[in-house]
Amino acid sequence: MTCDSVDYGSLVWSDDLILGIDQIDEQHRKWIALVQAYQSAVVDGGSAEEIQRTLTAAVAYTESHFDDEQAVMEEAGYPFIDDHLDQHRLAWRRVNGFTAGSPTEDGEETNDLRDSLADFLPQWLMLHINTADRQFARWYRSRSDSAQATAPCAPAAIDDGRVFADIPL
Ligand SMILES: [Fe+2]
Repeated sequence: MTCDSVDYGSLVWSDDLILGIDQIDEQHRKWIALVQAYQSAVVDGGSAEEIQRTLTAAVAYTESHFDDEQAVMEEAGYPFIDDHLDQHRLAWRRVNGFTAGSPTEDGEETNDLRDSLADFLPQWLMLHINTADRQFARWYRSRSDSAQATAPCAPAAIDDGRVFADIPL
């Protein structure tokens, strides 16, 4: 699969982002929608209430998605989990750095913070899904594929799809 068609500048879900792990793909789809809502609120000049609400939803989902992804990696025994979690931590620190700027107050500084976050988060998210998450998914899938291929005593299905030919239908 090529990633050439993914535009990192615009936050849009496309099937090129599918990694082949259903739980993570589903969360990425929702995550993108939530960050998109925040970005739209900022870019389209939404009300302060709308910006705050969409920001809170996007940030909360980012945190829970990171936790869920970490759980999948721990469960699978991903050998590069520390590097991956470092990326999550760095992004999380930046998000918190932006949001710590009193987003409910009016003023130029707050607007700058909102604009910066609305720039940073979509780009980071698209890049992260297409690099680090994709790398994990490749490892995860190859592990499942080889587990299937080397499964001990895995009986081959016979022509009519039945595994045990000697069991009467
Ligand atoms: Fe990740």
